[in-house]
Amino acid sequence: MYANFAGCSKFNGKVNWLKMSWWQNGVIYQVYPRSFFDSNDDGMGDLSGVTEKLPYLKKLGVDAIWLSPFYPSPLHDGGYDVANPRDVAPELGGLQSFDQLSKKAKECNIKIIVDLVPNHFSKEHPWFKQALLSEPNSDARRLFHFRDGKGNAGQFPPNNWISLFGGPAWTRVVEADGKPGQWYLHIFDASQPDLNWSNSQIRSDFKETINFWLNRGVSGFRIDVAVGLIKDMSYQDDPEPQLRVDAMRLDLYDPENPQRSDEIRKWAKDSPLFDRDEVHQIYQEWRELFKDRSDDVFAVAEAWAYPVERAMAYAKSLGQVFNFDFMIVPFKSATLSQTINQLIAAANEYQTFPTWVLSNHDVSRIVTRLGGGELGRAKARAMATLTHFLPGSIYVYQGEELGLPDANIAPELRLDPIWEKSGHTQIGRDGCRAPIPWNSKLPNRGFSKASKTWLPSPADWVVEDVPTQEADPSSTLWLYRKLINLRKSHQLWQVPIDQVSASVNGHLLVVWRAQLGVCLVNTGDQPIAFEMPCPMQVLVQSNQLKVEMDEKAISVPGNTAIILEKVSTKT
Ligand code: NOJ
Ligand code: CA
Repeated sequence: MYANFAGCSKFNGKVNWLKMSWWQNGVIYQVYPRSFFDSNDDGMGDLSGVTEKLPYLKKLGVDAIWLSPFYPSPLHDGGYDVANPRDVAPELGGLQSFDQLSKKAKECNIKIIVDLVPNHFSKEHPWFKQALLSEPNSDARRLFHFRDGKGNAGQFPPNNWISLFGGPAWTRVVEADGKPGQWYLHIFDASQPDLNWSNSQIRSDFKETINFWLNRGVSGFRIDVAVGLIKDMSYQDDPEPQLRVDAMRLDLYDPENPQRSDEIRKWAKDSPLFDRDEVHQIYQEWRELFKDRSDDVFAVAEAWAYPVERAMAYAKSLGQVFNFDFMIVPFKSATLSQTINQLIAAANEYQTFPTWVLSNHDVSRIVTRLGGGELGRAKARAMATLTHFLPGSIYVYQGEELGLPDANIAPELRLDPIWEKSGHTQIGRDGCRAPIPWNSKLPNRGFSKASKTWLPSPADWVVEDVPTQEADPSSTLWLYRKLINLRKSHQLWQVPIDQVSASVNGHLLVVWRAQLGVCLVNTGDQPIAFEMPCPMQVLVQSNQLKVEMDEKAISVPGNTAIILEKVSTKT
């Protein structure tokens, strides 16, 4: 399928150049605002904190920041329970702070992406409060999914659907007369009532929200739970409710056992709750709103869909879809090769560009996932080096560039509803959300001077703070800067994507890019020799280990990635 990579002759095949916008090859940095930097020492990160750290982000070289929700929220799900989508939480600085950030970011040539949460509102949103005060079947209730319960007294949920956070997806309300009444649907926490997208008022309200942020200068949106908006409104029981939920759980997939993963993922198909065809009509309308502004406005879908063409449909309707495969792939050459080839082939087929994600606010940080400690960090650095060599866009989660592991948050300080809802069987996502260690010599590692912060920076967290890394050219921070810079200086994204291919040689992953060079990743512990088909030079190495190299061959140390550039292609 892929033409002639290994050769050093000039590539003469058909080149699949696609018209590119910045977001198709950009480096987008995810900020989780409440944990980024606290500018007024009240214990919670805020938007002025992001503004203060813009020079740091500019030096890192990112094209854009994606801000996880900063909206007013009772914080039952880290801000993904939005009480007003057209405002900024007062404790995060209000709209004025957003406008200031937007202005300063523009001066730094950094674009802003905001998180849009269309599947649900917070129970604190005025529309839900109104719905609770209103009669069954009223217009106010029709904005959500209110139903009568089953049983003589309506005492059982309307059906057997399950919440992704555990327990029933329905909660019963107390009616105005003080008696237990109808039930409402929530596929996440009970504090996050699902919206009824068959209601035109919801559709126009979200268009208003989109325009509101576009008018404030944002360049795009990250669409939360993009698969979830349309439900089967016959509300029939699902024969396999638990399997539907499992199909959405990334941690259950096993990339080394595709058959088992397929078994789990197949339940994402024909679900009453997820990935229903009609959802794309909503997104096509949004895309028109974006295009009215410019081709440079886009959205990226958080979409768990199966099989791959169903996931790619979101890229088609919104612009981009996250590929989360790198967040679960083991550090093994064969599995990496397979994953890269699949993603590149899918992007090719659907005329889009891939996205690469190593970490986000919902999963264990990559250093921890790959085993933790120095070895986990070495592997994570090799993964980062590989990722930046690939075409498409890259999402970097705050602190990833510092090689942070997860923090161990004491049980009594955990905030993620998953911890409680799972009956303390799932630790939840607080560990990857601990505040950024700006300076270990200061209280709360320089995140805030408050005596108590919303999530702690635990004393036993083994991290290297920013000044330490600044001073050390071998640090992870320097590596990320170098990699991001290299993407620009060597146009690492600018490649016909049908000219990328991965193969393996034992523990050595070999990723060729026609015309440019190769990335070698040794996923084993022992050095492996690689014969170079033409003269090459090292562009970047994921660590400082000594490398043996002559004109013909290079020996790649264990747990190391090296990008080699063809010397002949250098101008
Ligand atoms: C996905 C978000 O990334 C996650 O943090 C959140 O809990 C759910 N959507 C619900 O909004
Ligand atoms: Ca603050």
